[in-house]
Amino acid sequence: MYTRVALLLFAWVDVAITFDSRNVVFTIISQPEPYHASVARRLKMDIETQVVELEKREARIHITHEDFAVGGAWTIIPLLSPLVEKYRNSAVRWVLFVEPHTAVRCAKLIEALAAADTQKDAMWVGYPLSDDEPTIIHHFAYFEELEDEGGFVYPNFASGFAMKMELIVSISNKVESGERQLEAEFSIDPAFELARLVYGDIHDRGPLLTADQSFCVVSGDNCATYPRQFDTCGSPVPEDSIYFAVKTWSGYHATRARVVKKTWGRHVTNLQFFSDRNDSSLPAVDVGIPNTVSGHCAKTMAILKEVVKRVENMTHIKWIFLADDDTILGVQRLCEILSCYRGGDDVTVLGERYGYGYGNKETASKGYDYITGGGGTVLSVGASKLASRCSCSTLGSPDDMTLGACATHVQRVSLTHSPLFHQARPQDYPREVVARDRPVSFHRHSSPDPLKVYATWFQHDDLALRPRGLKDEL
Ligand SMILES: *[C@@H]1O[C@H](CO)[C@@H](O)[C@H](O)[C@H]1NC(C)=O
Ligand SMILES: *[C@@H]1O[C@H](CO)[C@@H](O)[C@H](O)[C@H]1NC(C)=O
Repeated sequence: MYTRVALLLFAWVDVAITFDSRNVVFTIISQPEPYHASVARRLKMDIETQVVELEKREARIHITHEDFAVGGAWTIIPLLSPLVEKYRNSAVRWVLFVEPHTAVRCAKLIEALAAADTQKDAMWVGYPLSDDEPTIIHHFAYFEELEDEGGFVYPNFASGFAMKMELIVSISNKVESGERQLEAEFSIDPAFELARLVYGDIHDRGPLLTADQSFCVVSGDNCATYPRQFDTCGSPVPEDSIYFAVKTWSGYHATRARVVKKTWGRHVTNLQFFSDRNDSSLPAVDVGIPNTVSGHCAKTMAILKEVVKRVENMTHIKWIFLADDDTILGVQRLCEILSCYRGGDDVTVLGERYGYGYGNKETASKGYDYITGGGGTVLSVGASKLASRCSCSTLGSPDDMTLGACATHVQRVSLTHSPLFHQARPQDYPREVVARDRPVSFHRHSSPDPLKVYATWFQHDDLALRPRGLKDEL
């Protein structure tokens, strides 16, 4: 009897005073695309090595695309219940979620989580972001009741964040029972949407993220994590290996299309506008589809088919960049990041990923990813051929969502997310995030002036590319 009490006591003391890698699961939110998968594997090996050096132990590390066969894992919510199932009766007390580009210093991290573990109120920790005003990328959500407490916060995903197992169990139960679900059908910013789900609402409030200085946006001595910059993988691809197809209509030839020509269009060789009227001055061709107010599915499919036909004999073309007439692009940046991906006959689709249907238990299995069109969609020639075979349910179905659903459920092609593409304007994103990366694109010709956005973010790099006219003369 006494030994048993002593043993229990010993076990309790052990839990209370020691905290080590056995209490943590490292979850790397990965993508199957070869480049991203290799970055994730490198991070996994790095964590493994660090934990062996620290504790002579094997760390628990997941690469989501290899270890969890659930759709929309990048939105975190579909991962909660598999994580609970796996670790419910284990020593695991915290789950760390990181991106493949997150740098992790394990000794500092375990120290930080050990400290957080003793704080009753710290249910999840990370680098807190907040919005100055309601923003389109966060569904214009606004939390009036939190004004006095400093407002709503959500983690900077690229810095990683950690959730207590207890919180994961509770959220997972609420999602499973239908008591809580995402408000929006669209997944745009997973860290924000997760924070909103965890918080609930004024009548049923869950914990807000606890700020932890060990989770950084810029590397420093105190940091357990910080985001690494996106490196290139060699020389930029030549801009003339990309065919730039801009979707427009006759009502915008004199305005938006002109802005494209004045800005990024100056720096590309293969630029073609696709419209509902011929206009040799742009040049624009009529794709034979009447203009619709939104959606544009039939038009985009017609464009894809036409471009696939045109590049058939242009063997130097490896990529097709599908843009809206109000996409603001950094050509040089695009050429740089494409050095990491496989173009030509390989199947690669790249851009800013949104999700549809993942947040609701009923629709989750039908959920899919899509590349949101405004920030531009990059397709390898091989992917363009596949995509051109997708069909539209109506003339004006949303083109980007149709392509996403077709890729996911018909063709089993996975789309690749790059956070450097942006569906919205610079000011719609948190400053800490957008200023540190080297963005590739923004979208929308509203205030500020698109010429100014281009000049601020992209012009300097694009000047390194020779303007088209000059190149032709040489
Ligand atoms: C538009 O141009 C294409 C060739 O680029 C031509 O086949 C077509 O007939 C033209 N349409 C009109 C209405 O002029
Ligand atoms: C491409 O080249 C082949 C063979 O040279 C030719 O038959 C075909 O018509 C060409 N296609 C286009 C779109 O020019």
